[in-house]
Amino acid sequence: MRELTLPGIEAYAQAHSTPEPGYLRAIQANTRKFSDEAQMIIGHLEGRLLKMLVAMIKPMHVLEVGTFTGYSSLCMAEALPEGGRIVTLEVNETHARIAQEHIDATPYADRVEIRVGHAMDSLAHVRAPIDFAFIDADKTNYIRYYEAILPLLAPGGFIAADNVLWDGQVMDSDDESADTVAIREFNRHVSRDDRVECVLLTVRDGLMLIHKT
Ligand SMILES: C[S@@+](CC[C@H](N)C(=O)[O-])C[C@H]1O[C@@H](n2cnc3c(N)ncnc32)[C@H](O)[C@@H]1O
Repeated sequence: MRELTLPGIEAYAQAHSTPEPGYLRAIQANTRKFSDEAQMIIGHLEGRLLKMLVAMIKPMHVLEVGTFTGYSSLCMAEALPEGGRIVTLEVNETHARIAQEHIDATPYADRVEIRVGHAMDSLAHVRAPIDFAFIDADKTNYIRYYEAILPLLAPGGFIAADNVLWDGQVMDSDDESADTVAIREFNRHVSRDDRVECVLLTVRDGLMLIHKT
């Protein structure tokens, strides 16, 4: 993934943020052993941001779309209030199995439930209210996930959507690839939606924070 900020800024920000816990570093290392897509993990900086958002919002019901190997689920689980729960949706059975192993090795296993299947199918069975949702799966379905989650979201609830700068490609008008177009349309859709307020943060690959007003 390209650095979207000045060279070295990301490393500087990381060096001046709370370190990533050792068990999450181990999850990243283990993921690299079986997958050449380990960069899909949100990583140290965004992971600590996600944890802090959960600590601030104090959601009882968290929904995640795109579990991969469980890293971001666990960042959120660390900060859940007593009794808080995360439902995380994953289509790939291997990813879900490895995530479950990673989650089971932590003290947070009773806080995270993985549901295997296409997220659009699983979303039909998710019960309201959701207090906080994190969208980080296939980009071409972002608007569908957003539209499915928004009615489930409690008034005042939040959604965070990852990769909304898509390596900076969103600004390249010659790039008409499906993922780039989908992310561009998602950003336009959300920023023009008067049901919500949003702010596009330039953290890592871009994180759209959305507040249901
Ligand atoms: C970017 S990774 C998620 C990374 C994870 N949030 C983290 O930071 O640790 C995206 C995940 O979404 C899953 N995925 C892709 N399409 C999906 C779909 N239609 N339904 C559910 N999960 C999907 C992929 O298999 C992959 O594991």
